[in-house]
Amino acid sequence: MEQCRHVAIIMDGNGRWAKAQGKPRSAGHLAGSENVRTIAIAASELGIEYLTLYAFSTENWKRSKDEVGYLMKLPAVFFDKYMKELIERGFRIRIIGELDALPADTRAVMEKAERDSAMNTKLSLNIAMNYGSQREIALAASAFAKDVLAGKAAPDIEPEDFEKYLMTNEFPPVDLLIRTSGEQRISNYLLWQIAYAELEFVPEAWPEFTPEVLKRCLDEYYHRDRRFGGVKP
Ligand code: IPE
Ligand code: IPE
Ligand code: MG
Repeated sequence: MEQCRHVAIIMDGNGRWAKAQGKPRSAGHLAGSENVRTIAIAASELGIEYLTLYAFSTENWKRSKDEVGYLMKLPAVFFDKYMKELIERGFRIRIIGELDALPADTRAVMEKAERDSAMNTKLSLNIAMNYGSQREIALAASAFAKDVLAGKAAPDIEPEDFEKYLMTNEFPPVDLLIRTSGEQRISNYLLWQIAYAELEFVPEAWPEFTPEVLKRCLDEYYHRDRRFGGVKP
């Protein structure tokens, strides 16, 4: 079976999880951010090399000012608390998404995490922040068009060449995409990169997605038959 190198997770259900406990949505987001540490460690121990987590989508700006404000503050809380440990564990933080639209302090915190961990090679912990896949592909097309106009690229392009313009250009394709909290949709996440990913939708909300659930997802992955369009003997 194809080695599972790259897992992507749509971390959904923080709000419903909090509501079920009579807590504000922000409490769900805080618990969810704590779980990023737990699951990153578990993923690394399970041999995963790339973990790409959907933290904030280009559509999430539609939420209340209070909720967006809280989500923008969470990276600072998270990295203040855990950056030292994540570096010691050999994790490399990488951010995908349009950072220039974020509040300046949020952006600064995230870019610092990237810089401070740039030498690490163990787990690549990729955080999608203000990320939307259609935007990413449109931006890639623009960058490619500009290169053509500048004479730096030929106008005929193959998928392998186009991928170099995506925000994920340093990552291998996604092997396994997991969405928590029961919803069965992609919500504008990694549309290009999941072309041949295995998909798993689990009922647990993100704050209750434990290392055991991740292990169960991987077991399921290793029981699947990935054909990539071919025929297995
Ligand atoms: C996921 O949880 C976190 C973000 C999208 C930022 P939600 O906030 O979407 O939680 P639900 O789906 O409303 O329960
Ligand atoms: C997807 O979850 C985005 C993130 C997890 C960051 P949403 O909760 O925003 O997705 P929809 O609105 O249910 O599709
Ligand atoms: Mg949701």
